[in-house]
Amino acid sequence: MQKNLSIVILAAGLGTRMKSRKAKVLHQAGGLTLVEHVVNSALAITAPERVVVVIGHQAEEVRNAVGGRGVRFAVQANQKGTGDALAVCRDVVPDQHGLLVVLYGDCPLLSVETLETLIAHHRGSGAAATVITTMLEDPSGYGRSIVSAAGYVEAIVEHKVATPEQRAVRQINSGIYCFNAELLWKHLSEIQSNPVSNEFYLTDIVEILNRAGYNVSALLHTDANELMGINTRVELAMVDRIFRDRKVKQLMLDGVTVQSTETVIVDPFVRAGMDSLIDPFAQLLGKTSIGENCRIGSGAIVRDSQLADGVEIAPYTLITSSVIGAGATIGPFARLRQDNHVGANAHIGNFVELKKTTLGPGAKAGHLAYLGDSIIGAGANIGAGTITCNYDGAAKHRTAIGDRAFVGSNATLVAPIEIGSGSYVAAGSVITENVPEDALALGRSRQVNKEGWVKKRGKKG
Ligand code: UD1
Ligand code: CA
Repeated sequence: MQKNLSIVILAAGLGTRMKSRKAKVLHQAGGLTLVEHVVNSALAITAPERVVVVIGHQAEEVRNAVGGRGVRFAVQANQKGTGDALAVCRDVVPDQHGLLVVLYGDCPLLSVETLETLIAHHRGSGAAATVITTMLEDPSGYGRSIVSAAGYVEAIVEHKVATPEQRAVRQINSGIYCFNAELLWKHLSEIQSNPVSNEFYLTDIVEILNRAGYNVSALLHTDANELMGINTRVELAMVDRIFRDRKVKQLMLDGVTVQSTETVIVDPFVRAGMDSLIDPFAQLLGKTSIGENCRIGSGAIVRDSQLADGVEIAPYTLITSSVIGAGATIGPFARLRQDNHVGANAHIGNFVELKKTTLGPGAKAGHLAYLGDSIIGAGANIGAGTITCNYDGAAKHRTAIGDRAFVGSNATLVAPIEIGSGSYVAAGSVITENVPEDALALGRSRQVNKEGWVKKRGKKG
C-alpha cells in the first residue's frame, strides 16, 4: 500500500459517444463494469477510504456498481468537464497533502504495475505533476501532450480545440495523472471554461502549473493498449477482447485446454482445474469454479456454479447457480435453471430441465423431463417425459423420489408427492397419491384390444 496517497476516479460523465441510455462507466468489458475495473486497480494500491469516485450521471447506479468496496463518493451535479469533476471532490478527499492520483472511469485496462511506476516516477521527479503519455499512430480524439525539449509537459491540448500543427502531435494524454495535492488544490480553481466547448478541462492544469513556475513530468508508456479510454462501443469491444484474451491465457497457463480461444468467454473470477477442456463458444460466467478433468462443451453457458472433478457438460447446456458432483454428465441441451445439486456420477440428458432439485449420486434423467422442487434419491431412474407438476397455479409443491426408484416414461407426478425408494411407477401414469417403498404404481387406464376390429369395421375408401 502506498503512503499519503489518495485516488480520485472521474465517473460522472454521460458518455454521449456510446449512444446509450446507460452511463458509459456502467457498460461492461471483460465481465465487469468499466468503473469496477478502475476501482479495483485503485484499491490494489491504497485504502478504500482514500479512494473517491466522482459520480453524477446515473449516480445511484454507479454507486451500486462499486458499492460494498468501502470507497467514498462525491457528486458532480452538472457534467461541466473533467476539471469541474475533480473540483467537486475537494472536501471528500481525506488528505489535502501528499499525492493525488487522478484516473478516468473509462480507462479500465490500466494495470496496478503501471500505477506503481507512475507514483515512483513522480516521487523521484520533483515535478508538481506527472502525466502518463503514449505515442499513437492515430491520436484523434485524445488530448495532445506538448512536451518541451527538456522532456516536460508544457500543455495538453484537447483534440477539439487543437490547431492542425498540434493535431499532428502523436504523443497523447492518457488521462492518468499524479499530482502534488497541495499544488493541485491551490491552482485548480484557475481553470476557466473553454470558450469552444464550454467545458472545464482538467488538462488545462498543466499550462497553469507551468505558468506558476512548476514542472510537469511526462511518463512515456509503451503499451498504448493499456491506456485506451473507451468512448464508443467499438472501443468497448476491443477492450473486452483484450480482457477475455488475458483471462483465457491465464487459464491455459494454469493447465486448462481452451479450443478456439477467441470464441470463449470466461469471467474474471472463474477458476478451472488442470486438464479441463473448454470447447469453442463456451461461456463460464460469474463465480463459476470447475474442477480438474472437466469438459465444457460448445455453446454451454455455466454461471455461478461449482463443478467437481471429471464433470462433462455436453454442448448447448445452460447451468445457473448449481453444484455438480464429480463425474456427472449433463446435456446436450439440458437446462439447470437455479439451485440444483447434482450428485456424483449422475446423468442428465437432452431436453431435461431442473429447478431447485437435488439429484442423488448415480441418478439418471436421460431425456425430456421437468424436475422442479424435487429431491431425487441415489440411483433413481427418471424416464423420458417425466414431469413433476410442482405448481398448482398458486403455490409450489415438493416431489420426493426415493433411492433406486424407477419412474417410467411419461409419468406425471402431481406434487406434493412421495415416491418410495425401490418402487416402480408405470409408464404413462398420473400419480396423485404417495407410492410406498418397493411398490408398483399404475395410474393409467387399462388398454383394450379389440380383435379383428379392422375387418368388422369394413373397408372404407
Ligand atoms: C480525456 C482528456 C484527454 C485524454 C483522454 C484520455 C480532458 C479534458 N481530456 O478526454 O486529454 O486524452 O481523456 O482517455 O480531461 N467525466 C466526469 N465529469 C465530466 C466529464 C467527464 O466525471 O463533467 C468523466 C467521465 O465519466 C470519464 C472521464 O471523466 O470517465 C473522461 O471523460 P471523457 O469525456 O471521456 O474525456 P475524453 O474526451 O476522452
Ligand atoms: Ca474518454
